[in-house]
Amino acid sequence: NRVVLAYSGGLDTSVILKWLQQTYGCEVVTFTADLGQGEELEPARAKAVMMGVKPEHIFIEDLREEFVRDYVFPMMRANALYEGLYLLGTSIARPLIAKKQIEIARKVGADAVSHGATGKGNDQVRFELGYYALAPDIRIIAPWREWDLNSREALIAFAESHQIPVSKDKRGESPFSTDANLLHTSSEGKVLEDPWNEVPDYVYSRTDSPETAPDTPQYITIDFEAGDPVAVDGEALSPASLLARLNDLGKTHGIGRLDLVENRFVGMKSRGMYETPGGTILHLAHRGIEQITLDRGAAHLKDELAPKYAQLLYNGFWFSPEREMLQAAIDHSQAKVSGTVRLKLYKGNVGVVGRKSPNSLYSAGIVTFEDDAGAYDQRDAAGFIKLNALRLRLLGRRDGL
Ligand code: ARG
Ligand code: SIN
Repeated sequence: NRVVLAYSGGLDTSVILKWLQQTYGCEVVTFTADLGQGEELEPARAKAVMMGVKPEHIFIEDLREEFVRDYVFPMMRANALYEGLYLLGTSIARPLIAKKQIEIARKVGADAVSHGATGKGNDQVRFELGYYALAPDIRIIAPWREWDLNSREALIAFAESHQIPVSKDKRGESPFSTDANLLHTSSEGKVLEDPWNEVPDYVYSRTDSPETAPDTPQYITIDFEAGDPVAVDGEALSPASLLARLNDLGKTHGIGRLDLVENRFVGMKSRGMYETPGGTILHLAHRGIEQITLDRGAAHLKDELAPKYAQLLYNGFWFSPEREMLQAAIDHSQAKVSGTVRLKLYKGNVGVVGRKSPNSLYSAGIVTFEDDAGAYDQRDAAGFIKLNALRLRLLGRRDGL
C-alpha cells in the first residue's frame, strides 16, 4: 500500500505516479536523483506535491559524487566496453537508483517499488535485478508492462484528463527517447530506428560537431592514483567535478559520439546513439597509464575479463557475486596504476601522446636499438625462438609444405 517510484518529473513518470495512485489506490513515494543529467529537480517536487504526494514522501538526492566515485570509476578501472564500443553510461546508473529506492522503501515502510522502463528493454532488467538482490521479497510494479497506454496519444490523453501538465514539445510525436547522466546521453527510437540512416544533427545534445570543432588541437594532462583519475592539468578535482571537466573538454572537441547497433539482453537488436565526451577521454587515458604500469600478464588477463565484466553490467548483474569477484581482481591490479597521461584533443579524436609514472615498467635502456646496457643479451633470443619453434618444426616435418 506504499510504493517508491523512480520519478524524473517528466511526462512518463508523472503519468505513472497518477496511474499508481488510481490503479492500486496506494500512497506513492517519489525518488528523484541528480545523476548529472543537467535538469532542474525542484520542478519534480512541485509536480509531486500537485499530485498529492506528501512533502515527507518526496525524496530528492544529489548522487553525482557517489555515482562517479563508486560506480563510474570502478567500471573505468575495468576498461569495460559492451560489444567492443559502448561505455555503458545507462547501465552503470541503474544499480545506484535501485539501491536508493530500496533504502527509501525501508525508511518509509513501503512494500513495493516502481520504475518507468518499458517491457522491451534492458533497463527494466537492471532495475529489477537490483531490487531483488537488495530486497528479495519486494513487490515490483512496472506500469509499462501492465497498462494499455501504449501510444504517445494515449499517454497524453491520460495526462490531460488528470491535470498533469504536458509541455508543448511533448505534444507532437516525440522524435526519440533519451537517457542522460554525468557519464553520457543516449538516444534511441523513432528517427534512429532505420540503421541505414545517419543520425541527424539535432539528436546530438552534448557534443559539438567534429566538423565545427576548433582547428587547433588542445593538449591536456590527467593524473591517476591507483587506477583512478585525480587531477586534470594538475588541478585536483573530486570525481564528479573531474568528469564534468572532461565532459566540457570533450564537448568542445566533438569527442565521444557513437552510432551503434547493439544486442539487448531481452534478445532484440536496437540502434542507438551515445555521447560520452568525458568518458571517452577517460577510457583512453586509463589505458595509457596502464600501458607503462601494468605487467603484460596482468594487462592481458584484464583484457580477457573486461568483456565479461561489461556483459554482466549491461545485463544488470551489478549486485552479483561474479561481478564482485571480477571487481576484486581488477582493483587488485590497480595498486601501481599511478602517474600522468598527456592527451591531444582534436576534431572528434582523442589520443595519448605521453605518459609517465614513478611506477613505470618501461625501460628505454632495455628497448633501445642503439646500445645494450647488458640486461638483455641478443644472443639469448636465438634459443628463445628455437624452443618456441620446436612444435612448429615437428609439425612441419610431419606435414611438409
Ligand atoms: N541501450 C542503452 C542501454 O541499454 C540505453 C538505454 C536507455 N536509453 C534510452 N534512450 N531510453 O544501456
Ligand atoms: C526502455 O525500454 O525503457 C529503454 C530502453 C532499454 O531499457 O533498453
